Amino acid sequence: MSTPIIIDGKEVAAQVRERLKTEIAELKAQGHTPGLAVVLVGEDPASQVYVGSKVKACTELGLYSQKWELPASATQDELVQLIHRLNADDRIHGILVQSPPPPHIDEEAVILNIDPRKDVDGFHPVNVAKLVLEDESGFVPCTPLGCMELLKAHGLETAGKHAVVIGRSMIVGKPMAHLLVSKKANATVTIAHSRTKDLPALCRTADILVAAVGRPEMVTADYIKPGAVVLDVGINRIDDATRPRGYRIVGDVDYTSAAPVCSAITPVPGGVGPMTIAMLMANTVKACRQLTASR
Ligand code: GUN
Repeated sequence: MSTPIIIDGKEVAAQVRERLKTEIAELKAQGHTPGLAVVLVGEDPASQVYVGSKVKACTELGLYSQKWELPASATQDELVQLIHRLNADDRIHGILVQSPPPPHIDEEAVILNIDPRKDVDGFHPVNVAKLVLEDESGFVPCTPLGCMELLKAHGLETAGKHAVVIGRSMIVGKPMAHLLVSKKANATVTIAHSRTKDLPALCRTADILVAAVGRPEMVTADYIKPGAVVLDVGINRIDDATRPRGYRIVGDVDYTSAAPVCSAITPVPGGVGPMTIAMLMANTVKACRQLTASR
């Protein structure tokens, strides 16, 4: 038991934004302002907060942004028509449809309509393929990209390490596993999920443990090998009558029990969360650079 390094996502996100400022200034000097369109369908309160934060981050960095809020009753066709308009709009370099949409919307079909060159979420099959192919012209989903940035910023070695990723979503688990196993990172990767047998024992073999399951405080000390690096991707609201809003945010990791066992850990909030938006800004700048270079 010792004191772990607490990985400060706010600090690393600020460093990423600082790096972007130079590139944004260069693009603007050439007459190009990176632009992001954020689309929200429905009134989910958490999604409203995320979308608001994304637009605010654009404003703070001097990027152009559009916020589209469609009612929960919007049809698939209306959403697809909007995406086609945004594909054709030269002011817009990045398009993001906040997930999850209402149940009547077929998210995969919607994503297929986004121009892959503007798919700053990295959800389009073209970008999924580029990630697997290690083609760096593609877009990688922002949260796993942010996790890799946290490891890099803290000089945490991945080569030769065993990484266990809990969760197989297309937004976090699968892209995270691909980034870790890539020739840049060289980790040996296991993806675990709800049907994995004896999850705690498997996780105890991990030098790097990434928790992306969406189950509040599921990962306790008995999942963690002493000295492991733990990245907590969870953002879960749990009832807490002592808080003004009536809830608090916890991760997928039980921080209190886990932290003393780790060598480094991301807190929630203030760990992976702030990185997601910083990497979205980075992807939008990259989209602008790539789109305008070919013009
Ligand atoms: N919902 C939760 N995370 C994300 C994300 O990274 N992008 C989008 N579009 N929706 C999300």
